[in-house]
Amino acid sequence: MIGTESRAPKGIVRAALVAAVRAPSPHNTQPWRFEVDDRRIDVFLDRDRVLPVADADGREARIACGAAVVNARVALAAAGQSSTVELVPDKENPDHLATVWLGNAAPVRPADEALCRAVQYRRTNRRPFLDRPVPARVRHAMSQAALTEGATLVLLDRPADLDRLAVLLRQAETRQSEDPAFLDELRRWTSHELGRTDGVPLAAGGPRPAEGTLLALRRYGETSTIVRPYESEPLVAVLASATDTALDHLRAGQALQRALLAATTAGVSASFLTQPVELPDSRVAVREMLVQPAHPQVVLRLGYGFATASTPRRRVEEVTRRRD
Ligand SMILES: Cc1cc2nc3c(=O)[nH]c(=O)nc-3n(C[C@H](O)[C@H](O)[C@H](O)COP(=O)(O)O)c2cc1C
Repeated sequence: MIGTESRAPKGIVRAALVAAVRAPSPHNTQPWRFEVDDRRIDVFLDRDRVLPVADADGREARIACGAAVVNARVALAAAGQSSTVELVPDKENPDHLATVWLGNAAPVRPADEALCRAVQYRRTNRRPFLDRPVPARVRHAMSQAALTEGATLVLLDRPADLDRLAVLLRQAETRQSEDPAFLDELRRWTSHELGRTDGVPLAAGGPRPAEGTLLALRRYGETSTIVRPYESEPLVAVLASATDTALDHLRAGQALQRALLAATTAGVSASFLTQPVELPDSRVAVREMLVQPAHPQVVLRLGYGFATASTPRRRVEEVTRRRD
């Protein structure tokens, strides 16, 4: 219930923040700030961490913050704490993206604990996946998970759609990799430093794709000389929303995270192919591919992969201000 007087022990709020910061974000920028007391967690956009080239209007940063909201709520549920969320609660301050209100104590279901574990295990996996199809049961679980947060996960099952997306992806990847401003930004967020707490570490990149690989993955650093074939029939999904407002971006982030956690609990890995939705004209082209009129927010590659390195995060204390 919004505005409830329930108070949670500090440890529970901290656990929610530890989960929140595990959310994915573009180039691992972690574009969030939190203000908390024992009744609420306020989530703010950190404008200094919005990517000026790849994400000039902050759409992807808001998606990341929506994902952080879901992680916080999943951790609260696993700690026996109900919660509700209010999106964009302050019309005067559009950077105040969400308030998570803590509710009453609630019974913990095994599914809550499984999702909370998945928050820690989930990571972007840019390595080749096995040539093993993702079963209908798991596809359904991911789609339903996205729907519960008001966005649609469109699985590209028709070969023609996959091929079309692959062309748009390759074109967008080429354009971005020829844009000095984009490359400079990518370089600054690719981490070569031990101990750095943001950016994408080189170890999180994948091997070079063998000649003829369908999907063009973003290259974070070029250290690997290893060449590997990627899966021959990749599963690609477009996460889309009905309209394209700041609220939709937050909802898309929540849906993204629910879908990724559903995938993780089923042993399915994901990586992002967002290049074509970062360029306005190719985003329109992706939009035209979707049967329902919808705005593409994120493109995912899904499959069964091997373990991959986790990426660092700034400490909760660095991104949180306590009000009490
Ligand atoms: C909106 C959004 C867009 C992203 N786009 C890409 C992308 O195009 N290519 C990529 O390799 N990773 C992409 N990522 C993944 C981030 O790089 C990743 O979440 C971040 O480095 C943290 O790593 P983790 O997901 O393993 O925790 C994206 C993430 C988000 C939330």
